[in-house]
Amino acid sequence: MEERIKLQNKTIFVTGAVGFIGSNLVLELLRTQSPVLVVGIDNMNDYYDVSIKEWRLAEIEKELANHPDSSWTFVKGSIADKGLINKIFEEYKPDIVVNLAAQAGVRYSITNPDAYIEANLVGFYNILEACRHSNDNDVKGVEHLVYASSSSVYGSNKKVPYSTDDKVDNPVSLYAATKKSNELMAHAYSKLYNIPSTGLRFFTVYGPAGRPDMAYFGFTNKLLKGETIQIFNYGNCKRDFTYVYDIVEGVKCVMQAPPEKKNGEDGLPIPPYKVYNIGNNQPENLLDFVTILQEELIRAKVLPEDYDFESHKELVPMQPGDVPVTYADTTPLERDFGFKPSTSLRDGLRRFAEWYKEFYQV
Ligand SMILES: NC(=O)c1ccc[n+]([C@@H]2O[C@H](COP(=O)([O-])OP(=O)(O)OC[C@H]3O[C@@H](n4cnc5c(N)ncnc54)[C@H](O)[C@@H]3O)[C@@H](O)[C@H]2O)c1
Repeated sequence: MEERIKLQNKTIFVTGAVGFIGSNLVLELLRTQSPVLVVGIDNMNDYYDVSIKEWRLAEIEKELANHPDSSWTFVKGSIADKGLINKIFEEYKPDIVVNLAAQAGVRYSITNPDAYIEANLVGFYNILEACRHSNDNDVKGVEHLVYASSSSVYGSNKKVPYSTDDKVDNPVSLYAATKKSNELMAHAYSKLYNIPSTGLRFFTVYGPAGRPDMAYFGFTNKLLKGETIQIFNYGNCKRDFTYVYDIVEGVKCVMQAPPEKKNGEDGLPIPPYKVYNIGNNQPENLLDFVTILQEELIRAKVLPEDYDFESHKELVPMQPGDVPVTYADTTPLERDFGFKPSTSLRDGLRRFAEWYKEFYQV
């Protein structure tokens, strides 16, 4: 077991801080780790409805008011801007960095590859370089870099559950290729500059104020408009859906345990480097997921009791870049941190439906 570090009184730099996972992480840090100094960056791009990002930012500011000993600094800008990233590192000297900023989404990477190279490769490289130079002149720099990878690195892995020991050299989308590249780049930096880094392969994260580009959110929008939802691979898709609070809890555990710095027999550092899956370890059939979503949308009064779902559902073939199943082997996370997601799909979708009702004032 790695030595735990306390997050209280630390300066934590979160990129993608008003993103879905990032904003929930910032809220959780303020709620549970005060006093804590959080610096967040986000370019607030319009890949999806910016008003959701603004809502999340307002939630963070509201939460901050309850923690007068903590601080929250928000920088609107891009991690691809090297000068800006260096300036933030010089000014705030973060102890822990959590890189969640990225161009997400598998399908969008087919039509908009540039965004992925900029945020996921150039941006991540800037973060790595800044972590490296945080140690210059014998200054105690970044203690731990935690960064988002993705279950999409498993591509069309036949073996389930997906284990971090599986070979993941055959990405089926540019998005997946950038995430796998992040793991490779982090490994090189961990080895060369002894930077403790942990990559987290997230599995289909959902919850309130989630991403409108994800299926459950898109389905809800369409059903509300009376449109037909398309269920890919004729519903024979399985996803290891993970509730956002579980993800954030997992990230928080991992942040506290940087991989240990050790030298090998050659006197050179053994890279302080780890990669974990964070998923539910319980894949759900897409059709079952949709059924629970429907029930919860009715319960939250987003949709009327007599909604005719059957006439708004279309079963269609698989989309390019998609995979039929995602299923996380989460044994290492449980072994090292005693952590396992605990939110049921029904509870998670209930909270999503209630948030949706309120946010869109349905
Ligand atoms: N949500 C999931 O199911 C899931 C699954 C696997 C991996 N991930 C990864 O987790 C991380 C967070 O995902 P999320 O679901 O919160 O997505 P998100 O899109 O809500 O959050 C990412 C945030 O990063 C910001 N951003 C994008 N490019 C940027 C740049 N160049 N500079 C600064 N900010 C930038 C966006 O504005 C956004 O607010 C991402 O790295 C994503 O690839 C998410």
